[in-house]
Amino acid sequence: MPGYRNALIAGGGACLAILGSSLLATASLAQTSRSSALAEGPGRETVEVVCATCHPVSNIIASSGYTRDHWGELVAPMIALPPDARARVLDYLAQHYPPSHNPRPSTLVSGPLQVSFREWVASQPGQRARDPVQARNGDIWWVGQRSNTIGRIEARTGRMREWLLPANALPHSVNIDARGGVWYLGNGNGTIGKFDPATGEAREHHMPDPNARDPHTGEFDRNGIFWFTLQISNMIGRFDPRSGEIRLVTIATPGARPYGIRIDAQGNPWVACNGSNCIIRVDPRTMALTEVRLPGERTHARRLDIASDGTIWYVNSGLGKLGRYDPRTGAIKEWDSPSGPNSHPYAIAVINDIVWYNESGVRPDPLVRFDPKTETFQSWAIPSGNIHAGIVRHMRATRDGNLLLHQDSTNRIILATLPPAR
Ligand code: HEC
Repeated sequence: MPGYRNALIAGGGACLAILGSSLLATASLAQTSRSSALAEGPGRETVEVVCATCHPVSNIIASSGYTRDHWGELVAPMIALPPDARARVLDYLAQHYPPSHNPRPSTLVSGPLQVSFREWVASQPGQRARDPVQARNGDIWWVGQRSNTIGRIEARTGRMREWLLPANALPHSVNIDARGGVWYLGNGNGTIGKFDPATGEAREHHMPDPNARDPHTGEFDRNGIFWFTLQISNMIGRFDPRSGEIRLVTIATPGARPYGIRIDAQGNPWVACNGSNCIIRVDPRTMALTEVRLPGERTHARRLDIASDGTIWYVNSGLGKLGRYDPRTGAIKEWDSPSGPNSHPYAIAVINDIVWYNESGVRPDPLVRFDPKTETFQSWAIPSGNIHAGIVRHMRATRDGNLLLHQDSTNRIILATLPPAR
């Protein structure tokens, strides 16, 4: 797989090239900002060079802190370092950001139910693995947004495989159609792509409008129409795979940032606003949008899902709450998430009328269960091997009522086996 190796070079390889040169110490100050506020000490400049290529070093400051071994376990899926640089980096991190450092602890809620987690580790370093989804045959697909890859865990063999996608697709999500066809959203190059695992080739469908730049999250309706959001472009799209036609509509509220999308039993797509206090119903025939205003100016909702009675459950990421909107009565009710106003609930899935979501703003980051009947919470720290790290950005149910998660920091695809709904 030649493309596979290219992606490797484009990812962690760039850092290795810098480390291999004797310019390491001088390169650091030129390339990174001094305002990062990493603690002073030997090794700091190396950390600034090798760790700031993919994300700001503020990730380190906001981390839960780890032992030296656990820092090693955290960074291994991000970048392969030569032994001396690795030692310098780990010594520095363990000294300045030990487990006692945690600036944003979570509140885990204990309870009687059990959840077990099974993990797979994707191979591309720092790939930002995300959005796993299960196909009808049991295969699990996900995308590597940074590595520009799509991956599959084959149910029959358990084999994991990753393929490179067309240049700059930077896939944000993946969906499977009713016939098992694999579709990804090219967030980087304004496309929806169909990927064929038999050939390793993708066929791209480009957005018909240059202002429609960032296909984000999508869902197929029961007629095979693909509905999707474009967050920065502030649009919602409709794609017909049979004709290839793409239609787009712009949201009236500027900067609404349409994000998560789900389709109700009547076939109406519902969209969560990540930039405003709204959720939006789409008329599937006319594409007319109805904006529902949610309480609280700082409210914003990354994602939503729909219960069997048609009520819309959303994460109020801005205020750290879980919310419910009843389209029949217009009633809105919100509950404080256990880890508080800064817990930043992110992904959500309603499975057998139990609500599951994650608190991404705290560490360890919890998977939270909410039972609407008893209005009670229970939560579990989501593992990455022996550590906790990452943000679950999307979660979807498996066909048998369990839950697919991921950890974007540690290349993890995770299957959570849930307790039976009662
Ligand atoms: C090749 C890319 C890459 C490099 C290099 C890299 N990381 Fe990361 N790292 C990631 C990705 C992707 C995430 C997930 C962040 C996101 O989704 O916004 C992440 C997240 C993190 C987090 C957040 C963990 C949490 O609690 O969620 C920490 C801490 C971190 N990295 C530390 C480091 C350190 C230390 C280094 C240098 C040794 C490093 N990273 C180098 C890709 C990289």
